[in-house]
Amino acid sequence: MSDLARWRERADAALQRALPDPHSAPQRLHAAMRHAVLLGGKRMRPLLVYAAGSAHGAAPETLDAPAVAVELIHAYSLVHDDLPAMDDDALRRGQPTVHVAFDEATAVLAGDALQSLAFEVLADADVDTATRVDLLRTLARASGAAGMCGGQALDLAATGNGMSLSVQALEQLHSLKTGALIRAAVRMGALCGGASSGELDALDRYADALGLAFQVRDDILDIEGDSATLGKTAGKDVAQDKATFPALIGLDASRVRLDELRRVMEEALSPLGERASALAALGRMAIERDS
Ligand code: IPE
Ligand code: IPE
Ligand code: MG
Ligand code: MG
Ligand code: MG
Repeated sequence: MSDLARWRERADAALQRALPDPHSAPQRLHAAMRHAVLLGGKRMRPLLVYAAGSAHGAAPETLDAPAVAVELIHAYSLVHDDLPAMDDDALRRGQPTVHVAFDEATAVLAGDALQSLAFEVLADADVDTATRVDLLRTLARASGAAGMCGGQALDLAATGNGMSLSVQALEQLHSLKTGALIRAAVRMGALCGGASSGELDALDRYADALGLAFQVRDDILDIEGDSATLGKTAGKDVAQDKATFPALIGLDASRVRLDELRRVMEEALSPLGERASALAALGRMAIERDS
């Protein structure tokens, strides 16, 4: 089995353990949390934690907590992103979205509770206290107004007026709404492995490019993909006049940008040599994926 396949299984098992028992009260909330996390998903962010951590010699057991924590934040962000007040989506990971399968109030609470659980899991991470505080700070910052939530706010402000942004402003939006959690995943893995500040800087350049590439590809797939393969409704961005790369610069220029980002990733990882092979594979997956 490849490293990536093993880490995916590891992340799934750790997520199962972390989530509340579906048979204990409040059962509806617990069921909604489990629906949001356990039914599908590529587990890209946990995989980045394991790949960055093992590139710096961290044992998989020490990486479970940050891997779970970042996926819980990601899952919460998707539950809220799909709400009628935001993107109003009915399909996610090939399943009805949480507010459709349950109800809106339960979806809000499930997102809230997943976020709290992420920090509870991280507070119990099996690392020294200084590293644990670094992990908590990294994930908190990446999740909030200076990260994912800030990016979502910029996305909503531009919705219905998708062509109004400059390319630079769109890159900033993408770098916050999607890039911030991806950067945090890579950084948390590296922190668990005791990476030096020079190594953290190089990984940050890689993760910056990866985060942007991941969202550019997401924007392209919204146009070129089909709902069955994506597991979410295709064509929503155009319908809602979202600020996306294809809307602003066109599909061809978006693909050129992806190619540039591929090179940035390769350059940033080159000092790590063979140790970075899983990170390099994840970078390629972000750019080439069909779902
Ligand atoms: C979807 O993320 C939302 C974006 C940030 C583009 P993913 O494509 O990683 O979604 P899952 O986790 O595989 O469902
Ligand atoms: C979502 O971006 C990013 C976050 C959830 C933070 P999108 O709105 O493009 O994601 P999808 O396409 O619904 O997965
Ligand atoms: Mg959105
Ligand atoms: Mg959306
Ligand atoms: Mg999208």
